[in-house]
Amino acid sequence: MKRVELVDLAAGVREHRALLLAAVERVAASGRFVLGDEVLAFEQALAEVCRARFAVSVASGTDALVLALVASGVATGDAVVTTPLSFVATAEAILRVGAVPLFVDVDPESACLCPRELERFFATCDMGPSGPTKVHRGRRVSAVVPVHLYGRIADLVALEEIAVASGACLVADAAQAVAGVLGARSLTSFGAAALSFFPTKNLGAWGDGGAVLTDDEGVAQRIRSLRTHGLDAGVAEELGYNSRLDALQAAVLAAKLPTLRHVEERRRAHAAYYRAELPAWVRRPPALAIGDVCHLFTVRGSRRDELAAHLDACGIATGVYYRQLLFEHPAIHSRLDGAPSSCPVAAAFAREALSLPIHEHLAPTDLERVVAAVRAFGQMNGLT
Ligand SMILES: Cc1ncc(COP(=O)(O)O)c(C=O)c1O
Repeated sequence: MKRVELVDLAAGVREHRALLLAAVERVAASGRFVLGDEVLAFEQALAEVCRARFAVSVASGTDALVLALVASGVATGDAVVTTPLSFVATAEAILRVGAVPLFVDVDPESACLCPRELERFFATCDMGPSGPTKVHRGRRVSAVVPVHLYGRIADLVALEEIAVASGACLVADAAQAVAGVLGARSLTSFGAAALSFFPTKNLGAWGDGGAVLTDDEGVAQRIRSLRTHGLDAGVAEELGYNSRLDALQAAVLAAKLPTLRHVEERRRAHAAYYRAELPAWVRRPPALAIGDVCHLFTVRGSRRDELAAHLDACGIATGVYYRQLLFEHPAIHSRLDGAPSSCPVAAAFAREALSLPIHEHLAPTDLERVVAAVRAFGQMNGLT
């Protein structure tokens, strides 16, 4: 029997083959392979879909975070607050700009940065020498980086209020939440947001890619310069990066962009099915809000690894996002400024979270197989 995969990139190519190959042909004929009209057209379309004033494409989601932090004013020696429950790139980007990550626990429902914990953290900081910017162990706390984990939009309204009162800006890791919004507000109304077009994302390229969304013209302009070696009219006023999007990736992404709504609808229908059909002992994620993005469907259970092994034996792939908290990675841990504070809620997610297949190419029979296999595990183990 065919395996139920966590993602099915080949099915995506099959579905849009003609459209995608036409885009590739167009780039080949143009002879322009880095930046250029294809990239510009994609950036404009992306900004519109994400309700941002500007979308500036870069070479990856990691670079999008790095450049968004630099352009938002994070400097060497600063401290930046984030969640410990994320892909390693979140903390890596903070360290790459010369800042030190500080970790604050997540909300037990959303798995995103918890406003109450953020407030508690800032209460332990010292007043800065001038203005509202708080200081932690002698470091200016210049930014807060919420992660819209699994596509769920963090509580940006509360986080913004707390961050702004403490003189920090918000830079969101929206790698898993392309086209997400929060009620009537775009993500960019809270600060810059970094997107990833890694192939497994809801809007995936045929390689690496990313973008920074912002409403701030100065931030957009600085990122355009930073992604091209810091050059501005041929002169490098600051050291930059080589982080541009290929025209080929832009053409592929532009061809896929109009299908994003359909992708979201399919994934949401799958999530609704799981929510209705999974047995009661499975701890489901909260229902999606309107502006959330359905990227991963992550359940929780104390016997997570046994369940994953059982599903694997039944031909069903699963994923663990994330088994290690960010400060547990040796490369991050060795660069921290003192011991990280304990984050018991995030630690529970790391022990219990299991993502089930949710991609848009799943057939009803695939979903039925997943549910039946989960039920069988419960029956074998007396779970009710
Ligand atoms: C939460 C999160 N942050 C950052 C990244 C980094 O994106 P990229 O792989 O495009 O560099 C990813 C991608 O996997 C991610 O899921």
